[in-house]
Amino acid sequence: MTILITGAAGFIGANFVLEWLAQSQESVVNLDKLTYAGNLETLASVQGDDRHIFVQGDIGDSALVDRLLAEHQPRAVINFAAESHVDRSIHSPDDFIQTNIVGTFRLLEAVRAYWGNLPAEDKAAFRLLHVSTDEVYGSLGLGDAAFTEQHRYEPNSPYSASKAASDHLVRAYHHTYGLPVLTTNCSNNYGPYHFPEKLIPLMIVNALAGKPLPVYGDGMQIRDWLYVKDHCSAIRRVLEAGQLGEVYNIGGWNEKPNIEIVNTVCALLDELRPKADGSSYSTQISYVKDRPGHDRRYAIDASKIERELGWKPAETFETGIRKTVQWYLANPEWVANVQSGAYRDWVQTQYAGTAEA
Ligand code: NAD
Ligand code: TYD
Repeated sequence: MTILITGAAGFIGANFVLEWLAQSQESVVNLDKLTYAGNLETLASVQGDDRHIFVQGDIGDSALVDRLLAEHQPRAVINFAAESHVDRSIHSPDDFIQTNIVGTFRLLEAVRAYWGNLPAEDKAAFRLLHVSTDEVYGSLGLGDAAFTEQHRYEPNSPYSASKAASDHLVRAYHHTYGLPVLTTNCSNNYGPYHFPEKLIPLMIVNALAGKPLPVYGDGMQIRDWLYVKDHCSAIRRVLEAGQLGEVYNIGGWNEKPNIEIVNTVCALLDELRPKADGSSYSTQISYVKDRPGHDRRYAIDASKIERELGWKPAETFETGIRKTVQWYLANPEWVANVQSGAYRDWVQTQYAGTAEA
């Protein structure tokens, strides 16, 4: 048995693959374009493991996806592949439209053709799980109830609009063609192997380098944080037991203003890696110009997945953020290779001979 996972050299997909291979004998085919966000060094521990087949390529490359489906006959496809950084989507939205919308469409077409030709038993068992975000629901006011699966879509950034479009396509392929899909909309993730352009890893890395900690606007924007391994366990659970065509919101009931996150990271670093001069890392905090169109608050109501599938996060924010800071302190080489760009050579230097393409 095999599953095809797209975008699994990125932050969440790679964490998913590492967990999957630690728990299952089932092999994974990892299709990833290796954009700046794809980092095979994260998957170094499964290099040479026969259960991990890496293929460099684009979800929008129909011929390649057709070939992979025919060759590996997966029982499921999990789509993590996306452009994922809101700030990049504001500066250059093109890649977001190409991968998140056109790429998802091409993937759906390839999967529809493959699924349509499966023998009845395999056809009934097949699943396409599309990984999406809470950002499709837009921004909440302070007193508003958290997003349920019924909340209307109101995306505000090119990133969230492109993810919203992909969700709609996935929904339409179920409604129109009966494709057996599942969609998950998750809150902000954090944890090991997170690219240091996102808030939490950026703060850790900048703090240790003695650089300013850039907080956008007043720092009172609220996000709902989930430890990445909890997101992975939720996806496994939805894949295993989710109802076809259904949407599951995934979150950790952990709403925090950004400035509180930054202060928590600083306090942990003060404890675990105190500065020589005795000052707090929080003295490096620097308020900067706000992000255009910045969403004020996200909050996920995760009661459906808890009630219907019995899923709950294993980590609290306090345990998860401590593990995360400890991981970055213990893995300076991974960070240094990301910062120097050396991670981009990994496929040539470390994976030579094992990558299919
Ligand atoms: P990431 O940016 O770290 O990784 C994305 C991966 O996709 C990279 O390895 C990249 O090389 C690959 N990729 C990009 N374009 C591709 C293409 N055309 N074909 C094949 N591969 C391609 O992102 P992430 O944080 O791991 O997010 C994974 C998924 O989860 C995304 O769909 C994102 O929208 C969703 N999500 C992320 C969060 C979060 O907090 N990070 C929260 C909820 C949902
Ligand atoms: P980010 O990690 O980019 O995730 P998203 O925009 O998808 O929620 O940002 C999380 C929050 O942190 C968001 O409100 C923007 C804010 N932020 C900063 O204040 N400074 C930064 O340098 C970054 C990257 C983000």
